[in-house]
Amino acid sequence: MEKGTVLIVGSGGREHAISLQLAKSASVADIHVAPGNAGTSMVGSNHEVALEDIDGLCELAVRIGADLVIIGPEAPLVAGLADRLRQQGINCFGPNAEGALLEGSKQYAKSIMRRLAIPTAGSVMVTENSQIDSALGGFSKPWVIKRDGLAAGKGVTVTENIADARDAVKRAIETDGKVLIEEFLPGEEASILVLMDESGFSILPSSQDHKRLNDGDTGPNTGGMGAYAPAPVVTKMVMDRVISRIVEPMHKFLSGGSGPYRGCLYIGLMIDDCDPKVVEFNVRLGDPETQVTLPLVQSDLGLLFMAVSEGKLSDFKLDVSKKHAATIVLASEGYPDKPIKGRIVTGTSFEEDGTAAIIHHAGTRLDGDLVVSSGGRVLSVTGISDTLEGAINVAYSRISKVSMEGGHYRQDIGHKALET
Ligand code: AMP
Ligand code: GLY
Repeated sequence: MEKGTVLIVGSGGREHAISLQLAKSASVADIHVAPGNAGTSMVGSNHEVALEDIDGLCELAVRIGADLVIIGPEAPLVAGLADRLRQQGINCFGPNAEGALLEGSKQYAKSIMRRLAIPTAGSVMVTENSQIDSALGGFSKPWVIKRDGLAAGKGVTVTENIADARDAVKRAIETDGKVLIEEFLPGEEASILVLMDESGFSILPSSQDHKRLNDGDTGPNTGGMGAYAPAPVVTKMVMDRVISRIVEPMHKFLSGGSGPYRGCLYIGLMIDDCDPKVVEFNVRLGDPETQVTLPLVQSDLGLLFMAVSEGKLSDFKLDVSKKHAATIVLASEGYPDKPIKGRIVTGTSFEEDGTAAIIHHAGTRLDGDLVVSSGGRVLSVTGISDTLEGAINVAYSRISKVSMEGGHYRQDIGHKALET
C-alpha cells in the first residue's frame, strides 16, 4: 500500500489505539473512523455511521476510497460486514461471517474444538427446563453457565450457589432457547492475539486482562478493567503448547472452508500448571489487550494489517519491542450495570502529559473543547517502560491527573505478574 486510506470501524479504546499506531505508519495517509470517539477525532475523521448499519459502513468505505477497512468489534463481523466489503473488492482486516461464528456461537466454537481435539472445558448444551438438574449434577461447583450468542462480555455466570446456577440456566433458556453448562477451569487467565491469514500466522505479545470490576478480582465481570503485556504466566513452554495444540490446528482449519480467515484470532486461555486450555475464542483484537500489545509492535501497522487483509502475512516480518506495557481503565459511576454518562473528563490533553503514558479514549465524545463521557469504559491510560513495574507506575501516575465525577479504576493492575 502506498500511502493509503484506512477506515477503522468501532469506537472503543482498541480503535483509538489502532488509529494512534496507524498515524505513525509511513504507509498510511488518511485515517477515518466510524463511529469513533473524542480520541479518534483528534487522529483522523470520525463518521457518524452506527456499527449495526452494514450498508452505511460499506457506502462509507466506497465513498472515502478506503484501501483497507479494519473492523474492531465482533458485532459487525458476525453480521457479515467483512463479506460485504470483500465482495466489493475492498481489503479488510477481520474474518467473514463464517469465521466470526467462533465468537458468535459458543456452541459452534465448542464443536470445532471438540472436532480438532483442542484442549477446553467439557460442556453440555441444555435446551429444556427438565434437563437442568441432571445437567448441573454432571458438574461440580463452581458452576459455569454460558449464553450462546454475543453478550458483550456479560453472558457468563460463574457461581458456587446451585440456586443461582439453576436460575441463570432457566433465564438463558427463556431468552435464547439454549445454554451451555461448562466444567470450571482453575488457573490463571491470559490472552493471546494471533494475526492470521491463509499464508501463516504471527503471535502478538501475550497479555492479561482484568475482567472483574474490583481489586483482588472481585465484583461483577466487565469488558475489562486493565491489562498488561507480556504476561509472565505465558512462559516459553506454555507458548509452545499453545502453538502446537491450539494455534496450528485452528490455522489449518480456518485456512480451509468457504473463505480464508484474515484478521485476528483472540485466544482466551486458562493456564493451570503450564497446561493451557481455551476459555473462549474471539474473532478480533481484544479490548483492553490491544492498548498494551499494539504499542509494543514496532513494524508499520498499516503494512502489517494490509498484509493480513491480502493473505500475504507470511511475507511480513513482525518486529516487537522488548518493553512492557500496562493499561488502567477509567470506568463510569454505575459501570457495568448502569453507567452514568455525560460527565466532563479533564486532564486528558497531551500538553499535561509529562510522562511516557498514552491516553486511549473509549466512551468519550467532544462537546466543543470539552471531553465528555459517553460510555461505561471511558478511557484507559497506558504506560510503557523497560519493566512491568515501571509501566504500571507510569500509568498510575498519569491516570491520577485525569478526573471525572464518579470515575473509578482498579488499584491493582498487574498484581498477579508482580507477585510471581
Ligand atoms: P468468556 O466470556 O467465555 O470469556 O467468560 C468470561 C469470564 O468467565 C472468563 O474470562 C473467565 O474469567 C470466566 N470463565 C469462563 N469460562 C470459564 C471456565 N470454564 N472456568 C473458569 N472460569 C471461566
Ligand atoms: N478483554 C476481553 C475482550 O476483548 O473480549
